Amino acid sequence: MKNKSFVIAIDGPAGAGKSTIARLLAGKLGYVYIDSGAMYRSITWAAMRAGFSLQDDKKLVALAKKTKLCFKKHQRQVKLFMNGKAVTKAIRTPEVTANICYIADNPRIRQIMVKLQQRIGQHGGIVMEGRDIGTKVFPAAEFKFYLDASAQERARRRFLEFKDRGVKASLSDILKDIKIRDHKDKTRAVSPLKKARGSIVIDSSKMTPEQVVGKILEKIKAVDSSRQRRAGIERCAGS
Ligand code: DC
Repeated sequence: MKNKSFVIAIDGPAGAGKSTIARLLAGKLGYVYIDSGAMYRSITWAAMRAGFSLQDDKKLVALAKKTKLCFKKHQRQVKLFMNGKAVTKAIRTPEVTANICYIADNPRIRQIMVKLQQRIGQHGGIVMEGRDIGTKVFPAAEFKFYLDASAQERARRRFLEFKDRGVKASLSDILKDIKIRDHKDKTRAVSPLKKARGSIVIDSSKMTPEQVVGKILEKIKAVDSSRQRRAGIERCAGS
């Protein structure tokens, strides 16, 4: 696996643990972890900073077209650079999250982002996570996973994460927010969140991140060796 350059797509709802899993998996395989949501976030952040109306199609498209987005390993972590500036932290504010739907729902911006994502992953060796990676960005990816968890469990995890970071929020407000985001993601007119054809569904509600990664690696190994057998490129003997 390590010296092969597969595309591994991971989709799923907010809070299902996609980024943790994708990061761990990429580390184990020596692949690059790509957070596609960060790309939508960075356009939202830049448009808000520039004071654009988030419904001004012309300005948003011009902004997206002149933006260079790079994922680079920096001190053992993959960071996103927007036109050379590190934005990983700035794009994770509640204000950006609250306004991202204008960007994620915009078909012209999606088209630009999908092209950038395809270019980023063209040589493989990536684990890319998001909402439409297996359905739209890389429908022919060698491995597609749909990571799910109950809304209650996702809210509980987010609550603990906030508590750890000293952010005050009630569990019921977080759950409400998760349900709103699910609805937005699943009913979006362009590229809504759904299970990609041929994707392997994993419900992580009762699993640790390590268990999920273990299961994904198991599935990858099983699928890879059965493909090799079918392709007639594997010869085995003995017990
Ligand atoms: O994964 P995240 O929560 O950082 O994603 C931020 C937003 O971007 C989320 O509301 C859905 C949207 N998104 C998308 O529409 N398509 C993707 N491939 C990734 C994220």
